[in-house]
Amino acid sequence: MIIIANWKAYVEDSKKAKALFAESKKLASLSALTIVIAPPAPLLSGLALRNRSRVSFAAQDVSATLGGAQTGEVTAAACAAAGASYAIVGHSERRAAGDSNAVVAEKLVHILAHDLTPILCVGERARDNEGLYLSFVREELTSALAPLSAEDRARVIIAYEPIWAIGKTAEQSIEPHDLVEMTLYIRKVLAELLPGKSSTRVPVLYGGSVEPGNIRELAGSTVDGFLIGHASVDKASFTALVRNIA
Ligand code: 13P
Repeated sequence: MIIIANWKAYVEDSKKAKALFAESKKLASLSALTIVIAPPAPLLSGLALRNRSRVSFAAQDVSATLGGAQTGEVTAAACAAAGASYAIVGHSERRAAGDSNAVVAEKLVHILAHDLTPILCVGERARDNEGLYLSFVREELTSALAPLSAEDRARVIIAYEPIWAIGKTAEQSIEPHDLVEMTLYIRKVLAELLPGKSSTRVPVLYGGSVEPGNIRELAGSTVDGFLIGHASVDKASFTALVRNIA
């Protein structure tokens, strides 16, 4: 099981960052879970460069550019140098800020080129009765993965994050049977995009209002882990989350 704590912009000072990291290290040493922290970019190197624990680090995003005269951009190379071993790409909050499928595909190439493991986020804005949300997710997966070599496609982690379920409460999160349906669908699309049985090794995670109260029932579905936002930036709730599935 992989647990990714996406701190978003909730954590803005190193004192809070260090306290959450210390707790994560403790939790990682007590369980077999893979714990990954995605801090805001300026806090990444302060935590990740001296890290000797079982916790790993992710960038929340990378720029679509290479290095050079690009004021304000945070490149995949810089994230790798800051100690990240993963990078989130295509998060709905970045897509809302303008990242198209084409931009996500470009970022994915930079992430892979710097030996970071991409966490590709996909997910529909809303559900409909005609099943259009399935083709929406298929398009997000295909546009990102199709340009890659078969080898690179197999290096990607998929995070299914329906936008309608993000930033709510456990009660408003996805129903376990709907999550099973979607993960099976994602696996079907991956099987079309990857050769042989290699798609079966691609982890499929879920994100969207995962809290201590619903993580266990969601873990009972077909997911390989979780991408957690608000419940990962409170020490007590993150501890409870991890304990509930460890
Ligand atoms: P919440 O857990 O706050 O719903 O956020 C989910 C998410 O977007 C993680 O990337």
